Amino acid sequence: MCGIVAYNGQKQAAPILLEGLEKLEYRGYDSAGLAVRDGEGDIEVVRAKGRLKVLAEKTNEGKSLKGDCGIGHTRWATHGEPSENNAHPHESLHAEVVAVHNGIIENYQEIRSKLERHQYTFYSQTDTEIAVNLIEYYRHKYDETPIGALRRAMMRIRGSYALAVLFKDRPGEIYLARKDSPMIIGVTEGESFAASDAPAILKHTRHVYYIDNMELACLSKGGVTFYNIDGEQIEKEITEITWDAEAAEKGGYEHFMMKEIFEQPKAVEDTLHSVCDGQEIDLKDIHLDEEEIRSIAHITIVACGSAYHVGVAAQYVIEDLSRIPVRVELASEFRYRNPILGENELVIVISQSGETADSLAALREAKRQGVKTLGIVNVVGSSIAREADNVFYTLAGPEIAVATTKAYSAQLMAVYCLAVRFAYVRGKINKEEYKKYIDELSALPEKISKSLEDKERLQWFAAKFGNNRDIFYIGRGMDYATCLEGSLKMKEISYLHSEAYAAGELKHGTISLVEKGTLVIGVSTQNELYEKTLSNMIEVKSRGGYLVGITSYGHYSIEDTVDFTIYIPRTDSHFTTLLTVPSLQLLGYYMSVNKGLNPDKPRNLAKSVTVE
Ligand code: F6R
Repeated sequence: MCGIVAYNGQKQAAPILLEGLEKLEYRGYDSAGLAVRDGEGDIEVVRAKGRLKVLAEKTNEGKSLKGDCGIGHTRWATHGEPSENNAHPHESLHAEVVAVHNGIIENYQEIRSKLERHQYTFYSQTDTEIAVNLIEYYRHKYDETPIGALRRAMMRIRGSYALAVLFKDRPGEIYLARKDSPMIIGVTEGESFAASDAPAILKHTRHVYYIDNMELACLSKGGVTFYNIDGEQIEKEITEITWDAEAAEKGGYEHFMMKEIFEQPKAVEDTLHSVCDGQEIDLKDIHLDEEEIRSIAHITIVACGSAYHVGVAAQYVIEDLSRIPVRVELASEFRYRNPILGENELVIVISQSGETADSLAALREAKRQGVKTLGIVNVVGSSIAREADNVFYTLAGPEIAVATTKAYSAQLMAVYCLAVRFAYVRGKINKEEYKKYIDELSALPEKISKSLEDKERLQWFAAKFGNNRDIFYIGRGMDYATCLEGSLKMKEISYLHSEAYAAGELKHGTISLVEKGTLVIGVSTQNELYEKTLSNMIEVKSRGGYLVGITSYGHYSIEDTVDFTIYIPRTDSHFTTLLTVPSLQLLGYYMSVNKGLNPDKPRNLAKSVTVE
């Protein structure tokens, strides 16, 4: 949800900022802007509506903006429509403060009224312009230093923010403030950087600092000073980013999404190997030793979007294998319904970014109730990773495409590992079965590669059926969890209307929408449910639906019913989601490309949703 970047060094800032913003464009892309200053000169601001390339053209690839210190922004609109006026950076009334902001200021109306009483006027509809003026107001009223004025503003503002601020009377300095929105800081010889996400600065440095909630910083040329909310200077540890910058490049693929779909075998394998040597699953590093595992009475999984769909699959797998009761909840609902969490409860929060506002709030609610929490998180050092009692890191590497693929699969592998280990430690499976499950988990990466081999047929299918109005996904049990994710992938990147239904539920209402040619994708990979799902598919077929069937090799009788079949390699029925979803990702991808859309940047969406 918006990307910010800052540079303070010896080189021309604008081209570096544009390059950084390009890496952050997945966070928002409805407008963009830069503010750059040359020594003690004026702060020059340029903003443009539309994709980053419009800003690049407007500034002649950054060459028309002179200066070695600056900030940049790519926007995903929250307050105010996408327009040049609402684009960041925003300037205060007396042009003394210029800032970029990622996050949302909840009490901006109240602050706006206060500032209006002091003769402030506003040119945009954004909450950020309010923040910029509040900072200027406090500087004047209390004759404050930049850190002092920022601290006062932080205490007054409710909501989330990562702010990068230039002060007219402080050349060669960039001020930063953070609460609940990500920000990373990098320092090298004579240069310093800040950004919403590591890929924006990785080319320049791998040595980074994570600024925490309610902390501030001042970037000088090659240095950074940190402050707490009381204005006291604090020390922070530097961390090295170990993954490669190349991991965040397209590497010959047309889109990040396609590259990431094909990185799934590795993401899943790396995640498995982080806890499993092929013989044993060892969860001690995440403090789930045998005693801990035996003491779990109940599990609540909270997450949003695709991560929630991992939770739905996890509910089936963990309950069936370990017999621990599992409840799965949308984080946005969980936090507002006064949830009851029992003794010996384990709350698992699943999040790729580790910054999703609702998931973070759910985690905090669980902690407030004194319950043990586990984060399944991809981004190292993110808020959920830092605040959860323990973290199971998925090793998917940076995920750039807005629609998740490889992080989703790595999350699935993480929950499978938990399920198998819990089942064994709690005596629900014997040593032999435990070994059999581990062997099956180890075989999954190779089988994902195999299921991706069907890509040409899916491409052909998308070209032929890309104009369908509605798509329904139906399945039972684990296959229903698969359908939820397949349907989300389809709608978010191809803008086709799609819905996922538990196959047995269709006849309770939704089947009335099925008419001649309606596309219905039936997922049927569970041996014990195969016949039942098939009969639901026949119900659809007899109403004229066009049927796509997805099943495991061996279930060839499906071809008597369906019009088009997709086969996945055989695996234990608990793990079929991990082999089926990649085909549905490909289907969504090709439908999107076929319509001339950019699957990496679907409209209205952002990679990391740091607002409620
Ligand atoms: C869908 C998608 C989203 C995310 C959701 C949670 O393709 O990517 O539904 O899964 O916004 O994000 P994280 O996992 O970062 O908490």
